[in-house]
Amino acid sequence: MATKSSPPSVSLLSSLFLMLLALSSSSSSGSMTISSHGFSIREATVAELQLAFKQNKLTSRQLVEFYLGEIHRLNTVLRGVIEVNPDALHLADKADQERKAKAPRSLLGLHGIPILVKDNIATKDKMNTTAGSFALLGSIVPRNAFVVTKLIEAGAIILGKASLSEWANARIIPNGWCARSGHGRNPYVLSADPCGSSSGSAISVAANMAAVSLGTETDGSILCPSSYNSVVGIKPTVGLTSRDGVVPITHRQDTIGPICRTVADAVYVLDAIVGVDHNDKATREASKYIPVGGYIQFLKPSGLKGKRLGIVRDPFFTVIKESGIIRAFEHHFHTLRQQGAVLVDNLKIVSIDAILNPLVSGEGKAMDTDLKLDLNKYLEGLVVSPVRSLADVIEFNNKFAKLEMTKEYGQQGLLDAQKTDGINAEVKKALLNLVKLSRDGLEKLMKEQKLDAVVTPGADFATVLAIGGYPGINVPAGYDSNGVPFGICFGGLKGTEPKLIEIAYGFEQATKIRKPPPPIKH
Ligand SMILES: *[C@@H]1O[C@H](CO)[C@@H](O)[C@H](O)[C@H]1NC(C)=O
Repeated sequence: MATKSSPPSVSLLSSLFLMLLALSSSSSSGSMTISSHGFSIREATVAELQLAFKQNKLTSRQLVEFYLGEIHRLNTVLRGVIEVNPDALHLADKADQERKAKAPRSLLGLHGIPILVKDNIATKDKMNTTAGSFALLGSIVPRNAFVVTKLIEAGAIILGKASLSEWANARIIPNGWCARSGHGRNPYVLSADPCGSSSGSAISVAANMAAVSLGTETDGSILCPSSYNSVVGIKPTVGLTSRDGVVPITHRQDTIGPICRTVADAVYVLDAIVGVDHNDKATREASKYIPVGGYIQFLKPSGLKGKRLGIVRDPFFTVIKESGIIRAFEHHFHTLRQQGAVLVDNLKIVSIDAILNPLVSGEGKAMDTDLKLDLNKYLEGLVVSPVRSLADVIEFNNKFAKLEMTKEYGQQGLLDAQKTDGINAEVKKALLNLVKLSRDGLEKLMKEQKLDAVVTPGADFATVLAIGGYPGINVPAGYDSNGVPFGICFGGLKGTEPKLIEIAYGFEQATKIRKPPPPIKH
């Protein structure tokens, strides 16, 4: 998500009591649990699905049929999916044949597993890649995004395209809204914010409309919807995952990562998508961070032992209003200690107010400038497209206002970007300032205190991570008094995914907070 509206805090929620009462009084009808040979697909992890394949209790066709059925049943309400892949069942049959024939490919981690990818990630198949906008409908991409190629190589079935805040919120619109799908909804409390911009990815895995999903983040777009939809999101170090074929906001901050129901599932997906891509030079530099043997080895139940975790209370915990949420985090600190972590409390990040204000830090100006340059380059590179530049997109939105806009939803983010004038002196100054804020801020704190991670609530830490290209992981941490989920975020320095995974997995295994959403009423 673009940063002009800072990520909403976990306490920023209107009263939804009536909604909740309606939901909780409904019986559990309407949620069919498809199982074959007694195997229940709903809430199954990738490892459980793989075991069921192996034991002949499940086929990829049954799995895809289940998810297509759930999308059919739920998506008119939740709007997490924009398109399904017309070839999904065919691909499932192919996976089943490969498994039957004991093809070496069928042993790969994601073989036969259906994945939903955010609609700003290019797929060269029968589906459209539009970032949620009609302006890109009918465009033809030159090739699969690198991460999609990697998923297919790992055996995954591209099930469909997830909805998003249009243009990954570069447009600046309400969270979860795009013209092509309408407003994505939070499956826990339908009238609550689903956050964004990877709203559809988070909504869909939360509601079991897909096994796993991919999102993208520029500033909060994986961490925030993961927090609000009670799922796990990994925002990788910038460059760890290639941005080739992904509708961009800024190459300095954009990153592609998994959104899944468990840390382990997210790690399986992360393992599949990292790697060097000659079309994204940041991947060369970041490839030094990829551990030999991949990330699965860091799924250790004792992962919290000896980890030094920093707590920056001001402003991240001091802004929380709801006493229940405050108590939940105090309880989590206790659990982290019990699991062997050392908590270093009451820390401060230098210039945190400036870091969190994009107008002061320069993040806003730099992002607007990059958006125009990077998006123009992406649009020029399409084989066929109704729009070839940011200016064309703005014109399209004006011309087809009935389709693309409502009275409330303008395109201020795009207009601001169009007004920029390349990397001029002012932008250079902003870029230098962002580097300095990270160096004197998170970088210095982590080194001085010898921290492995900083712990914060929800996605409020996203901007600190965004401007430095740092990684973070969200894990479900509770539900507020209205039933709206909130997460806990573990953030660290570049390339520290192994430690963050150990910490996130240790926390998840010690708490097991995620529960599936209540039955959806139509
Ligand atoms: C892609 O968009 C075209 C319209 O340009 C539409 O006819 C087609 O059904 C879309 N593809 C899918 C898989 O929905």
